[in-house]
Formats: sequence, structure tokens, C-alpha cells
Amino acid sequence: MNYNKKSVKDIDVSGKKVLLRCDFNVPRDKKTGGISDETRIVAALPTIKYLLENGAAVIACSHMGRPKGEVVPELSLVRVADRLSEKLGMPVKMAKDIVGDETKAMAAELKPGEIMLLENTRFCKEEEKNDPGFAKELASMADIYVSDAFGTVHRAHASTEGVSHYLPAVCGFLVQKEISVMGAALEEPKRPLTAVLGGKKVSDKIGVITNLTDKADTIIIGGGMAYTFLKACGHEIGGSLLEEDKIDMARDIIHRAEEKGVKLLLPVDTAIGDSFAEDCQSKVVAIDDIPSDWMGLDIGPKTIELFVQEIKKAGTVVWNGPMGVFEFDKFAVGTEAVAKAVAESGAVSIVGGGDSAAAVEKLGYASKMTHISTGGGASLEFLEGRELPGVACLLDK
Ligand code: 3PG
Repeated sequence: MNYNKKSVKDIDVSGKKVLLRCDFNVPRDKKTGGISDETRIVAALPTIKYLLENGAAVIACSHMGRPKGEVVPELSLVRVADRLSEKLGMPVKMAKDIVGDETKAMAAELKPGEIMLLENTRFCKEEEKNDPGFAKELASMADIYVSDAFGTVHRAHASTEGVSHYLPAVCGFLVQKEISVMGAALEEPKRPLTAVLGGKKVSDKIGVITNLTDKADTIIIGGGMAYTFLKACGHEIGGSLLEEDKIDMARDIIHRAEEKGVKLLLPVDTAIGDSFAEDCQSKVVAIDDIPSDWMGLDIGPKTIELFVQEIKKAGTVVWNGPMGVFEFDKFAVGTEAVAKAVAESGAVSIVGGGDSAAAVEKLGYASKMTHISTGGGASLEFLEGRELPGVACLLDK
């Protein structure tokens, strides 16, 4: 895929109306509905400021949640408009809907240097269907389309792909950074390229692991999915997470890595619990000593040492997925150790995926990483080497 796309700097935005797709799908507090993590709003600011300072009138849009074409008041972007307004120190006009007459009139009256926000694009069922008529209506409000919603570029929706058929389409600074940093890490990495992959399921990461066996020098596997790999190697894993139907696939990946000369590291010991609970009894055992009624919930200290030594040697580290059940403090040790090792490695460090990114933020290592992706599903698909419709549709340089 070509990652060299035209950006807002390659097009004259002065006096133009810009339809700016952001990913304002921000985490919300379950009780109050308030924004609990503003990372994605902050990440959109450089492009918004550039556009406003350079004389564009900005019509921002985004989805939030999965309202499935219905108007769901809790998923309104009103709170996002307020937070964005605070961040920008200027009013953000909130539209009532997405392509209604009043909204179109509001867009028509918008002056250079002003910004408005459309309502949740997924309140219209046409959005996720990538309906051409809806995309055309969205596009009719603007002269230029700017994609800065990296978290959503893996979706071919009207506001992420459809509009590009009707407007010159370029990327914003966030999308540009995401694709250039991650693209370089995969295509011309500072070697050795070490991938640290965790998370619950083999099925979620199969595409990433397969693609990375063609690109990485070392693949480190931790988290819940490691137990299926261990089972594939003939270890008894007690009551640990197992995807029976993925054992063969795990075996294939191990062989493929061997054939390609990729070093594949699996846990050698594990922190286990007698139940899946924060207050369970726990201990550390060698990988072959998991009692049948206990389960592995984190990597053990010898594994941490093994993984950390490998991370220290890396020229580039791509990390996606926690090493254990890090939401339980006593099983967060492996994830914390990996976060620290990646942060201190001196390597080009790229963190993708909601959980690992959240762990890095929580532990205060964010500023030490080269790049923390704002995309969960999108960064995974990127690492899988899949074409991202919201990027492919942008003008090549
Ligand atoms: C995300 O949070 O990963 C993006 O906003 C995409 O959301 P979606 O998975 O509902 O399309």
C-alpha cells in the first residue's frame, strides 16, 4: 500500500470549506456519560488548528459508538463539541444533525477560521453502508475532504471513504504520522525489528502474526493467546485460556517462523491463579507445572527477563496487546515490565491497540514512546498489511 499521501500542506485550504473526518469516538464514563479520555480529541488539534489558522472553515465530523443508524442521545457529539471548544479556546458550533437543511445552511454560512461539528455520522444508517447519495450530500457542504480519523480508516463508510469520490481528499497530520511511522516500521525498520504481541485471543492476532513473520526478526508472544501456542508445542496448560480450534494454526505459525528464520519467543514461566478473580490465590510456576485446575494469568519473572533482554536488543519494537490480565493489579506485572522495557529500549517504539496504549499512558511512559497509535482495530489491520480504505482513497503524492 502507498503510504505517501497528500496532506493538508499539499493543498490550498485558504478560503475553502473543509470536511474534516476525525475519530472522536472517545471513551465515556459509564455513569455520567462524560468524556473519560480525551486523547483522540487532543490528537486532532494540530490539523484543526492548521486549517483554522490557514483560512479554512472547518466542518468536522465523527462517529461515536455503534448506534446502528438510530439517533441515540447518549451518543451525541455535544460533549465533544464542548471539550473541543475548551481546547481550542473558541466556539465550536454544534449542528443538530448531519446533512439536514439547517445543518447545510450553517455550513454555508461558516466563515474562514470558524469551526462547526456535525452530529454523530452513525445516526444515519447510510453512513456504515457507504451510501453514495449520503456521501455526496456530506461532500456537498465542502470543497476539500481531510481524513484525520486514523482510528476509523479501516472502515469504508460514507464519511471515511465515500466522500473521497466527490472531493479532493488529503490526510491530516495525525493520519500522516500514523501511516508514516508505522509504514516505516514495517517497510524499512531499524533492525532488529521485534514484535511484542499479547492479548487474549489468537484469532484476533492471527493476521498480524502472519504478516509479521515476513517482516520481523523476533516475535514475542505473551498474554492469553500464548497458552494456545504453548499447547501447540505440547505443554499442558491447565485451565488457562485455550482456543482448541486455533492449535493447528499456532503450530503452522511456529513452523513458518522457523522456516523464515524468525526468532519466536513464548513464556517459560507464568503467574497462575486458582480462579479468574482479582482476589484469587496466585503463584508463579514453570510453564510445565500449571496444575490442571489453575490458570495462567500473566507471564512469570523468568519470561519477563527473557522478553526484556530481547527488547533491549531491538532497533524497532512494535507492541500490541497486554502480557496478562493487567486489569487485576497482581497480574499486571508482565505488562508493566514490557512497557518499561519498550520505553527504555532506545529503539523506535510503536504501541498500538487500546489496551497496551492505555497501559503505557497509565504507567506514565507515553512520552518515551516514538508513537502510540490512536487506532485499535485500524492499527491491527495496518500491522496485518491490509489495505485501509480510508487511506487508500486519499490522493497520492
Ligand atoms: C475505534 O474506536 O476503534 C474506532 O473509533 C472505530 O470504531 P468501530 O470499531 O466502532 O468502527
